[in-house]
Amino acid sequence: MTKLRIFALLLALVPALGSASSGGDLQVSGTDLSDKASLQSGAGLFMNYCSGCHSLAMVRYSRLAEDLDLDPALVEQYLIRGDAKIGENIVTGIPAAQGEAWFGKAAPDLSLIARAKAGGADWVYTYLKSFYVDESRPIGWNNKLFPNVSMPNVLWELQGIQRPVYEGHGSEQHVARLELASPGRLDGREFDKAARDISAFLEYVAEPAGIKRTSTGVWVVLFLAFFTFLAYLLKLEYWRDVH
Ligand code: HEC
Repeated sequence: MTKLRIFALLLALVPALGSASSGGDLQVSGTDLSDKASLQSGAGLFMNYCSGCHSLAMVRYSRLAEDLDLDPALVEQYLIRGDAKIGENIVTGIPAAQGEAWFGKAAPDLSLIARAKAGGADWVYTYLKSFYVDESRPIGWNNKLFPNVSMPNVLWELQGIQRPVYEGHGSEQHVARLELASPGRLDGREFDKAARDISAFLEYVAEPAGIKRTSTGVWVVLFLAFFTFLAYLLKLEYWRDVH
C-alpha cells in the first residue's frame, strides 16, 4: 500500500513540469518547446507572414539554425529575407517611420513578446485567432483580444474571415464571439496548429535557453524520483530488523 502511494505521488509530480499558464479569456495554446517540428514550422510561418513588418532583433539566424536543428544552407535559402547573412540578426526591411505611416503605428520588435504579455504563448495564440473584419477601422480589421489594433489579419488567407457577433445595446455593446464568415485555406484544426506553431516559436525566441531547460527539467525529476525510490528501499532495509 505504501509503495503504491509513493508511486502515485511520483506520478503526480510529472504534470507539474508542463507550463501552467493561461489568463482569464485566453485560449490554451498547448505549445510544446520539445517539439522541434512545431518550432520549425513556426519559424517558417513567421518568416513568411510576420517578418515583413516585425523584427526579432535579439536573435541571429545562425542561432535559429542551431537550436531548431535546421541546416544553415536551407536557412539561407528559405528563411532569410533579402540579402541578410546567416550570422546577422533577424530584422525587418521596413523602417519604423514607414510602418508608422502605413499602419498608424510601427510594428514592435517581437523578440520578447511572449514574455512581455501575461499568458505568454497563450496570449499570442489567442491574439492570432481573434481578428475579425471591421469596416469602421482604417485597416478594415479589428481584434477581440486587442481592441482597435493597428495590425491587419495577415493570416486571413489561411484562417478565413471572421465576423463579430455583438451582445448588448448602445454603449454596453461588445463582441461576444467570432463566427467564421468565409473559410480559408486551412480548416479550424489546421489553423489552430499554425497559430500554435507561431506561438511556440515566439515562446522559444523570448527565452532560447527554455528549450534546453525543458529537457533538463524532465531528467532532474526522473533523477529525483529514482533517488526517492532508492531512499525508500534503504529505509525498508534499515527498519527490517527493528520491529
Ligand atoms: C503588415 C505589417 C504586419 C505584419 C505582416 C504583422 N504584423 Fe504584427 N503588428 C503590426 C503592427 C503595426 C502592430 C502594432 C499594433 C498596435 O499596437 O496597435 C503589430 C502588433 C503585433 C503584436 C502585439 C505587440 C504588442 O506589443 O502588443 C503581436 C504579438 C504581433 N503583431 C504578432 C504578429 C505575428 C505573429 C505576425 C505574423 C503572423 C504579425 N504580427 C504580422 C504589423 C504587422
